[in-house]
Amino acid sequence: MSTPTEIGYTFDNASPQAGDQMRTLEAFLDPISARRLTRPVLVPGASCWEVGAGGGSIARLMARAAGPDGRVVATDIDPQHLVPAANLEVRRHDIRTEPAPGTTFDVIHARLLLLHLPERQRVLRKLTDALAPGGWLVVEEFDCTTPLRVLTAVDDDAAKLFTQVMETILHVLQGHGANLSWAQDVHAEMVRAGLTDVDSVTHSESWTGGSRGLALHDINSRQLEPELVAAGLSPAQLRAFHELTRDPSFAAMSYQFVSTRGRRPGMRKIAD
Ligand SMILES: C[S@@+](CC[C@H](N)C(=O)[O-])C[C@H]1O[C@@H](n2cnc3c(N)ncnc32)[C@H](O)[C@@H]1O
Repeated sequence: MSTPTEIGYTFDNASPQAGDQMRTLEAFLDPISARRLTRPVLVPGASCWEVGAGGGSIARLMARAAGPDGRVVATDIDPQHLVPAANLEVRRHDIRTEPAPGTTFDVIHARLLLLHLPERQRVLRKLTDALAPGGWLVVEEFDCTTPLRVLTAVDDDAAKLFTQVMETILHVLQGHGANLSWAQDVHAEMVRAGLTDVDSVTHSESWTGGSRGLALHDINSRQLEPELVAAGLSPAQLRAFHELTRDPSFAAMSYQFVSTRGRRPGMRKIAD
């Protein structure tokens, strides 16, 4: 008898691939997130909440920018990759079921989290409710609705294999409750929640075999291997996929990364 699929976050911070997965995400996404969090969003003295903090790079960035007069709370359902520091507190926390960890925050950031959670709309409201007057919410997600375009491949079979494995990964994520188009809903959800100055930017780029980006697909496919095999992929196909992600003659577009931010009306107590 097969075990029922657990609804909620598909990946596992305790898996052997999790450290690499975090570092790979951070290498690709941190420069984009950093631009979205820069002034006037993140300023010295800010009180910040990094939700689903993962490997903690954005929590550390916030702690540096907020400085000694500011503070950061980094929460995660499994905080084993997070290291506390002077103005950086780490807490185990389930955003679906627990109240916000503190009174209110000047900056709240959540990246690649809400798309995984069936409770995402309720969670977004919880985050907007936890904003101080004038505070910013930054939510960043992959839009997985468009098939990843293969740019170069040694032959059609390689291109088809890539598409098949990527579709199966998305199928597994959906089975756990992920919403593949949520990235495109965040803007309207923030407006509906009463935030102002809402804006969204999208980033995608080509990933060539051997790059950090394609390594992310490789790592994800290794972490999900039992479920991918249960969904119909053969171990031989997965081995061929691992090789493809290292083949310099192969290139495909990344997912669209959508960064949306909005502001709670009102005057901030800290200077912009
Ligand atoms: C894809 S990782 C992204 C990590 C980090 N935000 C980043 O972008 O580098 C998602 C993170 O959310 C955490 N997470 C999953 N479900 C959660 C929940 N219900 N409450 C809090 N954190 C959760 C996971 O443990 C994981 O660290």
